[in-house]
Amino acid sequence: MKLRYFGHSAFQVTTDNSKIILIDPYLDGNPLSPVKSKDLNADYIILSHGHGDHLGDSFKIADRAKTLFICVNELANYCISKGFKAHNMHIGGGHNFDFGRVKFTIAHHGSMTPDQTYSGEPAGIILSISGKNVYHTGDTGLFYDMKLIGELNTINYMLLPIGDNFTMGITDAVKAVEFVHPDIAIPMHYNTFPVIKADPLEFKTKVEKAGFKCKVMDYGEEITL
Ligand code: NI
Ligand code: MN
Repeated sequence: MKLRYFGHSAFQVTTDNSKIILIDPYLDGNPLSPVKSKDLNADYIILSHGHGDHLGDSFKIADRAKTLFICVNELANYCISKGFKAHNMHIGGGHNFDFGRVKFTIAHHGSMTPDQTYSGEPAGIILSISGKNVYHTGDTGLFYDMKLIGELNTINYMLLPIGDNFTMGITDAVKAVEFVHPDIAIPMHYNTFPVIKADPLEFKTKVEKAGFKCKVMDYGEEITL
């Protein structure tokens, strides 16, 4: 399985059976992404919530016949209303797909689409594929139940925001890593806009000081999980 980072909270997972999964594909308006929507396609698009910097270019990339959206019920219905296929889920629920399992967790944030449609609760995403667990927290503040998420799941990779203002900043994100105990923490949702400027190397230093590993992914970089 491969994980590619596009900047902000946008990732691509390529499974061992060559399925392409995009998470929060915000590319064309994302000054950090070396890849734009026209360069991508997806078998699945998983969304953490409806904000424009997460819904992003989903509707440009998605193929009405092929791509399946996976998101919480209200956001899934929004995708369906735009003519796309979606699998409706909700927080606390998991489902087995042909590539692996998706489970949605809580996230403390808001959720509304750019055209002001209420899109349910924001969520975090636990992806279980080929024996590895990846926890994409979505946009969230720090919450103590992350400890429970870490107790119930062996998280191999934790993708979490460090940009502050709209989400956790570095100090809270380090605490989140301590709660979840991932093998590797990967920072996201920083430096896209001036208001979320943060130094990922400062985060890495603090995560390592707390006894955990951190990988700062370059924009466009792909790693094998
Ligand atoms: Ni948001
Ligand atoms: Mn955001």
